[in-house]
Amino acid sequence: SFDIGKLRDATGYVTLDSGYKNTGACKSAITFLDGEEGILRYRGYPIEQLAEKSSFLEVAYLLIYGELPTEAQLSDFAGHITKHTLVHEDIRKIFDGFPSATHPMAILSSLVCVLTGFYPESLKPNQSAADIDLTIVRLMAKMSTIAAWTYKNAMGHPLNYPRNDLDYCANFLYMMFSFPTEKYDINPVIVSALNKLLILHADHEQNCSTSTVRLVGSSNASLYGSVSAGINALWGPLHGGANQEVIEMLEAIEKDGGDTSKFIAQAKDKNSGFRLMGFGHRVYKNFDPRAKIIKKAADEVLQALGMQDSPLLKIATELEQAALTDQYFIDRKLYPNVDFYSGIIYKALGIPTEMFTVMFALGRLPGWIAQWKEMRENKEPIGRPRQIYVGATERDYTPMAERK
Ligand code: ACO
Repeated sequence: SFDIGKLRDATGYVTLDSGYKNTGACKSAITFLDGEEGILRYRGYPIEQLAEKSSFLEVAYLLIYGELPTEAQLSDFAGHITKHTLVHEDIRKIFDGFPSATHPMAILSSLVCVLTGFYPESLKPNQSAADIDLTIVRLMAKMSTIAAWTYKNAMGHPLNYPRNDLDYCANFLYMMFSFPTEKYDINPVIVSALNKLLILHADHEQNCSTSTVRLVGSSNASLYGSVSAGINALWGPLHGGANQEVIEMLEAIEKDGGDTSKFIAQAKDKNSGFRLMGFGHRVYKNFDPRAKIIKKAADEVLQALGMQDSPLLKIATELEQAALTDQYFIDRKLYPNVDFYSGIIYKALGIPTEMFTVMFALGRLPGWIAQWKEMRENKEPIGRPRQIYVGATERDYTPMAERK
């Protein structure tokens, strides 16, 4: 149910739609989503085809520039990104100042914002298209290095500099997992799974973080500042943070003895405060098409890595089956979402739980960039929602001595 209605405030009629459940904030030509039918397309191309046939950088180009690149365009785009993966040495020093318990998402959002300090020209509202392209390339390149370094920093490991002989996903894995003392073998199955995961997360029209990027950008804030805000929006457990919560929930079920029915009963009890993480979606009231692809990818990855008997996968499958046949979940159209299986793959790839949302942010980056760019090109006005005031009517200031 949603709360929508025309209510009168002092200045006239205002539409109240808490959570924007039925309010369009913009026109967009980037992503088509039909939640009733379970359809997702980037620039018209079905997500299933892109996940199977494309690469993350090709999809990034498609989202940002509107068309699939030619071979020369893709090589140019990927080449530029590779050239910019190194970050300023001063960023290394900033890492030393973060308290050791700082969540990688906090570091990521801070350092993406701090890029404005290294590239102050990005703050100018009237940049040329070429300048914006350079900011885009820098952000795509440097965010992967910063993301990998947040992990290395949390582990207390030496930071790995990017390698220009590797493609985007292989380089990211190298920066995450290589040690100076040990040779790191890049596994093509893992590279391919990572490509797929990043593609599936690359855009999802006006979700919470993307709307944040557009809203912040609508004040003419820089791309770095707008994306930094989007990272914080994504961090919340009801949005991108859900993939971390899913794996923690599966681990809790395993620790508790593996009885999924107990947790399903708890999720149905409104007083428990517990929700089945990875189930339900604001828009998909049919199956999330990304969940189908991810489920298949999870099976393939676990098989390739010899981990097909993973207890977490078994619990996840049981939970999915139980929820899909339970009237509570059927009535509310609560299906597994993209986050339900992504955590299992990330875990199998050796990516630690607190890095899951960072991985989501890395995948969502081209979508945020494309949406920010589209908003600028469409010359959209500054975002400024209205409200229905429900507070006190006018009253006189009470001196301190008279207050109760
Ligand atoms: N477990 C149990 N019950 C649920 C769940 C769940 N995961 N999700 C929704 N419900 C119930 C609600 O209690 C409500 O029941 P009611 O009608 O009896 O009051 C009904 O289903 C509708 O739920 P809403 O919260 O109104 O749905 P909304 O569209 O606002 O929320 C959301 C969607 C936030 C994703 C929600 O389903 C949820 O909290 N899911 C778990 C967190 C999660 O997986 N988030 C990831 C989303 S995908 C992404 O960001 C990439």
